[in-house]
Amino acid sequence: MITSGFPFLRPRRLRRNENIRRLVRENRINHDDLIYPIFVRYGENVVEEVPSMPGVFRYSVDKVADAVKEVRDLGIPAVIIFGIPEHKDEVGSDTWSDEGIVQKTLRVLKKEVPEMYLITDVCFCEYTSHGHCGVLHDHEVDNDATLENLQKQVVSHAQNGADMVAPSGMMDGMVRSIRIALDDAGFSHIPIMAYSAKFASAFYGPFRDAAESAPSFGDRRSYQMDPANSREALKEVLMDVQEGADVVMVKPALTYLDIITKVKENTLLPVCAYNVSGEYSMVKAAGKLGWIDEKKVMLESLISMKRAGADIIITYFAKEVAEMINRGEV
Ligand code: PBG
Repeated sequence: MITSGFPFLRPRRLRRNENIRRLVRENRINHDDLIYPIFVRYGENVVEEVPSMPGVFRYSVDKVADAVKEVRDLGIPAVIIFGIPEHKDEVGSDTWSDEGIVQKTLRVLKKEVPEMYLITDVCFCEYTSHGHCGVLHDHEVDNDATLENLQKQVVSHAQNGADMVAPSGMMDGMVRSIRIALDDAGFSHIPIMAYSAKFASAFYGPFRDAAESAPSFGDRRSYQMDPANSREALKEVLMDVQEGADVVMVKPALTYLDIITKVKENTLLPVCAYNVSGEYSMVKAAGKLGWIDEKKVMLESLISMKRAGADIIITYFAKEVAEMINRGEV
């Protein structure tokens, strides 16, 4: 018997052209995976680009419906809403006011774009004068006092039309507190997407410009997680599962792909990855300089999150990638 020799195993056979590559492709980006973040601010007739996030805008309430219609028309199923209120105070009371920025936005969107699934980011940093994610006592965020305010915030969001709430403040017991408050107020059908493993990350920089939410002193390391920790991320996720979370999140995404995989292997809940502002801005900046192929880097980044195990991706790229899918380019 004559063999033509080595190598006998040739993986390249399955890479010869796009047709066979399509057949053996393990992961895909789809519209169905995407959540688009929307920044809403006080004022009227405002559509302003965030300087550090080209292509991302802040809208006043009268302009937000048009922006969300565009997202709907691209085939994206959900948005996550971030509010920038006119008045900040010590406790962030705008977050539970019927006249709060998020509440006004919810009412407009429910009416104007009823097909869109509305998720609210539930936190305080954009609403407090000090920029921390809760009530301060002696320069520290008071966990349990913050839980009570979180309960007021989520009930108000639900009353004004939120379809899902997403607590991002990393307070202990936040998921359980929120679940109880929603159930007691008659919103047992509203799911909670918990920012379970949220790391104290420098990749949130551009978001803090966009949302005016940088802390006025100190940092968030006494509540957000240490980037060095992996087992602790799993602990946070498993606690949130026990507390009644419906979806768990890992944030940021790209520098935490290992965490996404671990979470996926250790829970049965859908896993969301947040492709955060700094991850977006770096790609945009390098693209602008001509140093990288922006679209290709975007797609490669997003597919890495899918491959790691993300079921859902929150990304500022959502509109761009949906357009590419619609044109048949992905
Ligand atoms: C907190 C919140 C933050 C982000 C989402 N929710 C900021 C923070 O924790 O400082 C960051 C998102 C991003 O960087 O894109 N409300």
